Amino acid sequence: MKRKLMAAAIGVTAAFAAPLAFTSEELNFDAYRQMLADGNPAELFEMEGEELWVTARGPKNATLEQCDLGLGPGVVEGAAAQLPRYFADTGKVQDLESRLMHCMETLQGIPSGEIIGGKFRQGERGKLASLVAYVVTHSKGKPIAVDVSHPKMQDMYAMGEKVFFYRTGAMDFSCASCHGEDGKRIRATHLPNITTNKGAAEGWTSWPAYRVSNSQFWTFQHRLWDCFRQQRTAEPVFASDVTIALSVFLAAKSNGYEAQWPGVKR
Ligand code: HEC
Repeated sequence: MKRKLMAAAIGVTAAFAAPLAFTSEELNFDAYRQMLADGNPAELFEMEGEELWVTARGPKNATLEQCDLGLGPGVVEGAAAQLPRYFADTGKVQDLESRLMHCMETLQGIPSGEIIGGKFRQGERGKLASLVAYVVTHSKGKPIAVDVSHPKMQDMYAMGEKVFFYRTGAMDFSCASCHGEDGKRIRATHLPNITTNKGAAEGWTSWPAYRVSNSQFWTFQHRLWDCFRQQRTAEPVFASDVTIALSVFLAAKSNGYEAQWPGVKR
């Protein structure tokens, strides 16, 4: 265990020693991403999600066509660009994943616990990711418009900001340790400065994304989970308040920026 931590520490130190400028590899990836933009493999997940939306499933044998993502039952167009939001019917601030999970439970009878206790890309959590791909595609090109006027949204924003700067874990890192300065990179990957609106938008508007390196589609919950791991801190519970609070923080800072969903990443 000790040796593992040591290895992790060395890995991270070495990563920070990397030069700050973009490498030609990074620039090449940008060109590659542009080439892929017309045929993003995330389309396969989007198609599966569309199918799942209209398929009667679960103990209640119902579709998701009555799911209200904030713009009324069944309205998918533009819905993701306004999430997370406060929902009066649950009395909670929900992001896209937690809202879909709520619809799957209430409309179809698929227990949320199955998704929360599951694994990324598997079972019902995997199906949820395809639904995410379907929904976000219908906000592509729309400006992010997250309304933080509700007091619960303000609480969540404040919590997200606090978590972002909170140092914890084996390395005593916060999110800001890696995402708090311009021009930072880990290996060939450029790390946006999320303390700025532009940097937050770079992250928020490009995830969920298809990851070319491992041919996987990752939702924003998955992206956050992996960054908690990089922070060497406790794994967050899927769709828990801490993940939604961080999402509110990033999304609100991205207001006005155009959604690029689904993104394509290394
Ligand atoms: C040890 C460094 C490290 C820490 C700490 C860290 N991240 Fe990250 N983060 C990364 C790396 C590396 C990537 C790029 C990963 C990739 O593309 O595979 C990334 C990517 C991201 C992205 C997507 C950026 C983009 O433009 O694609 C977001 C958003 C993000 N992190 C948020 C967070 C949040 C929120 C936290 C705190 C919970 C956090 N990160 C903590 C290293 C870190």
